[in-house]
Amino acid sequence: MEFLNVTEESLNRAALVLRNGGIVAFPTETVYGLGADAYNADAIVKVFEAKNRPYFDPLIIHIDNIDTLSKVADLSQLSQETKRKLNLLTDAFWPGPLSIVLPKSHNIPGIATAGLNTAAVRLPANETARKLIALANGAVAAPSANPFGALSPTTAQHVKDGLGERVDIILDGGAALVGVESTVLDLSGEQVKLLRHGGIPKEEIEKVIGEMGSRDRLRGDSLRGVGNGEQRYTSPGQLKSHYAPRTPLAVFSREEIAGLQYEENTAYLFFDDTSREDWLSKNKSSNNLRSFVLSPLGNVSEAATCLFETLHKLDTLGVQRIFAQLAPQEGLGAAINDRLVRAASGVAI
Ligand code: TXA
Ligand code: MG
Repeated sequence: MEFLNVTEESLNRAALVLRNGGIVAFPTETVYGLGADAYNADAIVKVFEAKNRPYFDPLIIHIDNIDTLSKVADLSQLSQETKRKLNLLTDAFWPGPLSIVLPKSHNIPGIATAGLNTAAVRLPANETARKLIALANGAVAAPSANPFGALSPTTAQHVKDGLGERVDIILDGGAALVGVESTVLDLSGEQVKLLRHGGIPKEEIEKVIGEMGSRDRLRGDSLRGVGNGEQRYTSPGQLKSHYAPRTPLAVFSREEIAGLQYEENTAYLFFDDTSREDWLSKNKSSNNLRSFVLSPLGNVSEAATCLFETLHKLDTLGVQRIFAQLAPQEGLGAAINDRLVRAASGVAI
């Protein structure tokens, strides 16, 4: 494995590795991706193997310019109305953290999309990512560059720690700016559906294409139930959890966490300073060193940027459990809460 800073030279080298069927970890604005040539089935197999990812979980196809969209997706299958929405979405959000599920083109091997006749396509905002894709074959299939189920990588060091020698090259382009994965939106059916909360908030999308359906279990009443069960935390190994630290994690609302008594061997993750201060005032004897804040002033975008980095850090403290406060369910808060809830219980949305 080669660990390289981003330069013209290293980009060319990484692109050559991709063209020759190797796998390269590269920065995007959301999280680091582990890429293979999207047209090369043998290379894509290496991505699944390196991550230990089940073959039923499809990859996102990354492109560097919108002209490639018609090469990786079969746009002729779309209705006029869906085409109209697609144009609105790409105009508004590309390049950026939005993956759009579309009918797949026959150019993309079935293994990339887990045998589905659809493909999720994304045009990333990160310039290094786009340059790399352009210098390679113009389309790179890439999941997040972490072992399957583990915390997503927002730095090159996270990739090195998680995958190490399993990849050919890691390109270090600094910390990811958005910090949570792309929003996944399904345009392949009659109705637009939100499949994953991510870097583009649902509200922003609805401003552009109107209200949509979702497989969202994280709204309204269901959110209040989170963390209320008998067993507030559970070992990530027991359930099919995702985005999970090795340390068991439980989630709480603002009111719930304020009422928690300090426990030994526990790290506390607060959304903002006032929540932490609230709790500290009731737990004067507590060990301040083990309480953390995602965004001092309570800004959801800042909290998203810091989320995985902070969880990676909490995971190295050697505590027995992490108690985490949910973010307000607005803007990027929806993506933060989705990741926290899945880290806690393995309930996928
Ligand atoms: O921000 C991101 O999306 C990052 C960076 C590297 O671009 N990638 C990422 O990939 O998060 P991954 O593999 O960790 O997550 C991709 C998600 C999965 O939940 C997968 O099931 C879904 O996208 N997905 C991919 N193709 C799909 C398809 N054809 N239909 C439905 N869901 C799909
Ligand atoms: Mg992932």
